[in-house]
Amino acid sequence: MTEPKPAQPGGYVPRNRGWHPAPYYPPYKTSVKRSPQAALLSFPTTLSEETGPVFGHGMLGPKDNDLVHNFAVDGQSAIGPRIVVHGRVMDQAGRPVRGALVEVWQANAGGRYRHKKESYLAPLDPNFGGCGRVITDEDGRYEFRSVQPGPYPWPNGMNDWRPSHIHFSIFGAGFAQRLITQMYFEGDPLIWRCPIIGGISDKAAIETLVAPLDMGATLPMDARAYKFDIVLRGRRQSLFENRPEGM
Ligand SMILES: [Fe+2]
Repeated sequence: MTEPKPAQPGGYVPRNRGWHPAPYYPPYKTSVKRSPQAALLSFPTTLSEETGPVFGHGMLGPKDNDLVHNFAVDGQSAIGPRIVVHGRVMDQAGRPVRGALVEVWQANAGGRYRHKKESYLAPLDPNFGGCGRVITDEDGRYEFRSVQPGPYPWPNGMNDWRPSHIHFSIFGAGFAQRLITQMYFEGDPLIWRCPIIGGISDKAAIETLVAPLDMGATLPMDARAYKFDIVLRGRRQSLFENRPEGM
């Protein structure tokens, strides 16, 4: 497998703030203190933000994309409904983002994180760590195996529950493209009751975070599959013969 090439410099398209969650959204209580208190300032991106970091496949361990086994004792596996999550990382022009580092973390099948400050009474699974990573291929594709995380309650309102979700961090071709987001599962009724998701005003934007069940990619007698495509910021494009460069 060839190592990804360093990215060329070039500015990025500004984020559409109407599409992303509002920083200040009182139903999500901690957003009140965390959100900016003054107007935002815009700076042009620097060369290092546009061209790095570059990740090589050599940094990955053989089980990094298998959360069912990467924390388990030899011969054992994590408890829970087995899933495969796969998709493509693209930019806004639909071009594949190659060599992107996709990192994921999640609660176990009972909704419990392996974290010192975790307060939920659901039990830890001794064979589940909850972290994994994978690098996209030449077509921008990634895939990992896991167990479906459970929903969990959290101290926000009187009785708020997070829907089942997987946290994602994606490093694209440059730091300026980094995206931290969450994936939800098709059909989960808690999605539309979640105060964090409620901070996203556009229903179409929320739907891009909900991965559909992909029966065509299931592993019979093993795992269901969910498809989650991810779109990162695109570069400002120079036109070449009336089409964007690289298309
Ligand atoms: Fe979470």
